[in-house]
Amino acid sequence: MLSLNLQNLTPSEIQNYLQHAVAPRPIAFASTIDIDGNVNLSPFSFFNLFSSNPPIVIFSPARRVRDNTTKHTLQNVLAVAEVVINVVDYNMLQQMSLASCEFTKGENEFVKAGFTEEKATMVKPPMVKESKIKLECKVIEVKPLGTEGGAGNLVICEVLYMHIDENILDENKKIDQTKIQHIARLGGDWYCKVDESNLFKVAKPNVQLGIGIDKLPQAIRSSKILTGNHLGQLANVHDMPVIDAAFENDVLKQIVQYFSLNPKEMEEETHRLAIKYLDENNVDTAWQVLLSNDII
Ligand SMILES: Cc1cc2nc3c(=O)[nH]c(=O)nc-3n(C[C@H](O)[C@H](O)[C@H](O)COP(=O)(O)O)c2cc1C
Repeated sequence: MLSLNLQNLTPSEIQNYLQHAVAPRPIAFASTIDIDGNVNLSPFSFFNLFSSNPPIVIFSPARRVRDNTTKHTLQNVLAVAEVVINVVDYNMLQQMSLASCEFTKGENEFVKAGFTEEKATMVKPPMVKESKIKLECKVIEVKPLGTEGGAGNLVICEVLYMHIDENILDENKKIDQTKIQHIARLGGDWYCKVDESNLFKVAKPNVQLGIGIDKLPQAIRSSKILTGNHLGQLANVHDMPVIDAAFENDVLKQIVQYFSLNPKEMEEETHRLAIKYLDENNVDTAWQVLLSNDII
């Protein structure tokens, strides 16, 4: 284990470790204007949702580590406290990256990166037409986190208005997570794309409490076959399951017959069978398999 006291690292080393560690980060593609109405558009991955009532998102244009100068976006929100945060999907990736170049003040990144300005409803900065979700925001506070290079500036934004492309909605007019290919930033030059090849669901923990891993039978808890994920699924049931007398399973019967002289291997095979059901999210059957093994 590499253990680091951050006080002994340079700002760029700290930035490197933390950006690889706190990842992936969503990207706010922020359009702002200066006092003369000049438009700016820049991406920020120090960004997230922090509250839904009030609806608050925060992004952070940092002071440059290199020379401690500030970003145009920061200067703009201090002058005109409005921003549109455009959500970035895979189709926008390379143009978004281009927009992050340090163009001179007043130069419009919509033009440089080839995006189309679209008038917002409640704020003055324009939206990115190509973006599938746009958040019109009022900047309610800008909180500097320091004065040295690398110091962030929290731009705390209240979302006033949302625009969502109809094509990414489901039949209930809710966003279909599989229809927007979000991209996110990691460390260095790494990005990731969120699509159906890597999306999966995890059922929310019960409204009632799970029994907890500490309450699992010892043979399950100390299994060499079941992983932490499997134990987490098993321990998320509200009550300790009991044997269902009607439960039958042909594979389990075969395991019992075949390994009758070798209880250790029987247990391991039973755990492998339980994993098959856990991977299908069939926790009840997995429990029955494991309980059957216990009484054998
Ligand atoms: C995907 C991506 C994410 C970025 N995130 C941040 C960030 O969170 N904070 C920051 O200060 N700069 C970030 N940058 C760099 C800024 O986009 C870049 O400095 C830009 O030139 C700032 O433009 P401005 O001076 O017009 O505001 C990011 C760049 C990219 C490509």
